Amino acid sequence: MGKIDFFKTFIKDRDVASIIPTSIRCVKKVCNHIDFSKDFTLVEYGPGDGVFTRFLLDKMSSGSRLILIEANEDFARHLKDTIDDPRVTVHNILAGDVESVIGEEDMGQIDYVLSGIPFSFLDKERKRIVLQATKAILKEGGKFLAYQTSGHLKKPVMEVFGNYDIEMEMLNIPPYLIYDVVKNGTQNGNGTVSDSK
Ligand SMILES: C[S@@+](CC[C@H](N)C(=O)[O-])C[C@H]1O[C@@H](n2cnc3c(N)ncnc32)[C@H](O)[C@@H]1O
Repeated sequence: MGKIDFFKTFIKDRDVASIIPTSIRCVKKVCNHIDFSKDFTLVEYGPGDGVFTRFLLDKMSSGSRLILIEANEDFARHLKDTIDDPRVTVHNILAGDVESVIGEEDMGQIDYVLSGIPFSFLDKERKRIVLQATKAILKEGGKFLAYQTSGHLKKPVMEVFGNYDIEMEMLNIPPYLIYDVVKNGTQNGNGTVSDSK
């Protein structure tokens, strides 16, 4: 399967939550929060058709790794069929089950978790489960980066991580808030909002 129709996938599965992939402008803005000069391991929740994945693969070092967690079967198959790169593994599971595919040696050692899943669709308990699992796999100082349509993640993120910064990207359909959250970090404020254009 060389191509996948994002809109048709959305029609079949409303958890896809968007009718088109994220704009490249927004992808770049989110990825500005990643230090590409170093080797890293990044877990991506909800890669969809891979717009972030391909950008990351272009920029990251040969020693870096990408672990993709995609709930939609069609997207997961598309990613497996179209990405031929030894740095990538694809798992067709829910983000809340991420710990089941993270090897013992990687537990608590992940540098970044990048998430596009629609947290607003999850109830309070599911949100907490995903955030706790995310915190468990991240290393100390590791980052949780999430692009979301609203501020609904602020409270749960504060409860689990105790910090976040937010940046806005208005030129995307839909407009996104970009969350930058650090595991046991001190560099982020408690809800600093920067409106960078
Ligand atoms: C808004 S789309 C983002 C797609 C892509 N990352 C982009 O930026 O264009 C959300 C993606 O998250 C996936 N998804 C939704 N809920 C999920 C969950 N609980 N675990 C893993 N993936 C999920 C959807 O199938 C979809 O691929």
